[in-house]
Amino acid sequence: MKLFISEGNPHCLKVLAALEEAGVQCDVQFVNHEENLVPFLSRPSLPALLLPNGQHLFSPNAICRYMFEVSGQECSEACDQWLEWEATDLQPALLQALHMAVLQGKELEATKVLAGPLSYLDQSLTKANTPYLTGDVVSVADLVVCAALHPILSAPSLASGDHKSVRLWFDRVAVSQSCVSASHKVLQGKGLQAMKSFMHRQPAPQSGQCRGSTHPCNSSPAEDEERERVVSEEEMEAAAITWNKDFNVSAAATERLHPILPQEGKRNILLTSALPYVNNVPHLGNIIGCVLSADVFSRYSRLRGWNSLFVCGTDEYGTATENKAREEGLTPQQICDKYHAIHASIYEWFQIDFDFFGRTTTEKQTEIAQNIFWRLHENGFLMEDVVEQLRCEQCQRFLADRFVEGICPHCNYPDARGDQCDKCGRLINAVELKAPHCKVCRQTPVIRSSKHLFLDLPKLEGQLEQWLNKSTSSGDWTANAKQITRSWLRDGLKPRCITRDLRWGTPVPHPDFQEKVFYVWFDAPIGYVSITANYTDEWEQWWKNPGQVEMYNFMAKDNVPFHSVVFPCSLLGAQDNYTLVNHLIATEYLNYEDTKFSKSRGIGVFGDMAKDTGIPSDVWRFYLLYVRPEGQDSAFSWADMALKNNSELLNNLGNFINRAGMFVSKFFDGCVPAMELLQEDKKLLALVGWELQQYIQLMDKVKIRDALKHILNISRHGNQYIQVNEPWKKIKGGDAERQRAGTVTGVSINVACLLSVMLLPYMPAMSQIIRDQLNAPYSCVSAMLHGSGAFTRVLDAGHRIGTVSPLFQKLEAEQIEALKKRFGGQQPEDETPNKKPQTATQNAASPQSAATLPSPVIEVNAGADPEKARQLTQAVAEQGEKVRALKAQKADKATIMAEVSKLLELKKQLALAEGTSPEPTPVKGKKK
Ligand code: MF3
Ligand code: ZN
Repeated sequence: MKLFISEGNPHCLKVLAALEEAGVQCDVQFVNHEENLVPFLSRPSLPALLLPNGQHLFSPNAICRYMFEVSGQECSEACDQWLEWEATDLQPALLQALHMAVLQGKELEATKVLAGPLSYLDQSLTKANTPYLTGDVVSVADLVVCAALHPILSAPSLASGDHKSVRLWFDRVAVSQSCVSASHKVLQGKGLQAMKSFMHRQPAPQSGQCRGSTHPCNSSPAEDEERERVVSEEEMEAAAITWNKDFNVSAAATERLHPILPQEGKRNILLTSALPYVNNVPHLGNIIGCVLSADVFSRYSRLRGWNSLFVCGTDEYGTATENKAREEGLTPQQICDKYHAIHASIYEWFQIDFDFFGRTTTEKQTEIAQNIFWRLHENGFLMEDVVEQLRCEQCQRFLADRFVEGICPHCNYPDARGDQCDKCGRLINAVELKAPHCKVCRQTPVIRSSKHLFLDLPKLEGQLEQWLNKSTSSGDWTANAKQITRSWLRDGLKPRCITRDLRWGTPVPHPDFQEKVFYVWFDAPIGYVSITANYTDEWEQWWKNPGQVEMYNFMAKDNVPFHSVVFPCSLLGAQDNYTLVNHLIATEYLNYEDTKFSKSRGIGVFGDMAKDTGIPSDVWRFYLLYVRPEGQDSAFSWADMALKNNSELLNNLGNFINRAGMFVSKFFDGCVPAMELLQEDKKLLALVGWELQQYIQLMDKVKIRDALKHILNISRHGNQYIQVNEPWKKIKGGDAERQRAGTVTGVSINVACLLSVMLLPYMPAMSQIIRDQLNAPYSCVSAMLHGSGAFTRVLDAGHRIGTVSPLFQKLEAEQIEALKKRFGGQQPEDETPNKKPQTATQNAASPQSAATLPSPVIEVNAGADPEKARQLTQAVAEQGEKVRALKAQKADKATIMAEVSKLLELKKQLALAEGTSPEPTPVKGKKK
């Protein structure tokens, strides 16, 4: 066993302390932060533990846990919960605190950020009244939490008198030989300063990262502003070196050749999106939850040079389809054909680039589902039982779970469905519902009995748990996915019925159950396998190859238990070495304005309507991804969509790329000018390079929404850079000035090129348009995202660009109002008179709230000219410089804060001016 760690990396402190505490034999080797030790892991990840079998562990807490287990100390459930708390609640706050304390010297603020988690810890310790977190002896939980807090709690400047129990506990644990020695090795006696270089490489903590955790983290804009990064000389030099590196085009992605199969020595990724029900037109919430999110990641993974296969298809069996068929007077098969085509065309319009889009009603599905069934049967994981079922005598049929409603037996939610409760998320057996009624005719159903087959989940629980421990600690599982799964296991697994009295389904091959079909939730996930089999006969290379394949499953959170418990159990029980989920990415819900999407009430935008709005597919994608319910529910809002289109796409991103292109074509005859970098340019390169790093780190972790913000930051930096350097003025000056104009233009057009690549997963068509305008072939730009990612000069002096034209269109207030009316949502007439003033104040306070379509703002600012926006941009840039200078001089806080608030005011004015100004083009800039 060998442990790789790096100096000044706080995560390494933990594992070293655990290693010493557990007394395990293990080599320890110091390497530098950037070392990429784990094969196939795109990001450098330290610490890493090389296991005797050649595998790596690279989650710090998993390593700590492992050390203790090797030494014979099992991790209790309480212990596990503390580890989870440490990773999901404490770490984000801690990173933010370290960022403030180490990089910004803001110690007071750092302690504030930690106040929430520390008081939680304090209360727990006080309540438990035990010397250690999980009882009377030190456990791995104590070590992990203590080592995590060590840099902060042992810094004299940060220690506070609050949290008495934490203090006592910390003093007890931290004095242990293992903690002291680990801290000495990792921090080298330099305290917080030892972490400087490590912290510089971490994503800047965002207020968003704390959402949903136990402490409030409402950072004010002033704090955000203050958190702006200071670029060091070293960073600028490093960025300039990277920029000048020759570009390795041969590493670039190659054409996709079907069938895509796993390749030796590559990172092989099997990507699935939950299979949408065929009997409905998907709405925006369905689209963002699975296919769109998976598509972004699939496109990204190809850009990274990974070998990935993205499969999806329609989920076609079940009562819902039978009902729809009855409604429309078609056969179930006809319904499936019709809606499969509708789904396919909607996804095509949204540019969802599946490698294969199949369906579940195929022969392969029958073959594979029946095979898995027989394997489960042979291996003794099925059992028979007589089931009481609900039957509606009026409708003359057994009621499928989704066709009966009643009161949830667990939480008393009145509108629980027969399969699941939307309130508490628990699965329900329909007969357990209190006061059940048939959804179709509202009659109370009767109970009838019939013999069914069950998957023996309790028998598979142990194996499953083993897998989950491994998968959730080494893979990326969203917090909701882990939490839902954990709560399932905590309740204890029960046998699940896998057969149904229906006709429209995969037939159960067992002679005793001839009249029955498989339950959709047993059958549908097998669709992933059969769809792959319809794509290639070599499907087993993906599905029976867990050693070489990593599987990502994308879905909305209500699908989690089927993907983390039921389906893995089916595969484990088959004992055929199936590939199991490694990364489970679940979104929360997307609401429509301030309500839910509702087909029956005609509320919301459905996939087939999006194209009738006249808003381009790319803009839909952009906005849905911008509000992706990542970590918490979010809402689609027309007003906000217009605002984001006009401010972020048009005025920020589009404006930058368009100006850069126009400079090249107008001032340099369409050829990229020669560049000679000054400090100013290197600073931009460093800022851009850093945003690129954040983007990659976040995307690697499937934080799609968070990563998008970094693209927009780059064009913001770019706009500022152009504004400060004024190439349109310099081009008219002497040689030196003209040279400056050339460098600024050349650097900007390369930034535009990088943006086209980073945008590709989000806005594929726009990415292509930009590359066409820049005449930048895909093969040469895409490699910028290979390996650890680098911003290099791909458009060299002399490169001829194509024809430049504006990229985005403004969304007008009236257009948006009309769309909003058309698609439902809150109507002004519905509001009671006394509610109105309230809405008005709300609008003033939050410019992004639903009803705020800038119509009033537009009127007020109708006269504002682009000139004003430009002056303001300039003023913002200057004020920004002033603030940075003051910070660099370490001026006193009050002075800085005063200047910061001026800056914020300017920015506000600018946003206002930009929100209403027509797209400023460089031509106008020139006239000036
Ligand atoms: N059709 C289900 C839904 O839309 C998802 C099925 S995912 C599968 O919620 F894996 F089971 F296919
Ligand atoms: Zn009925």
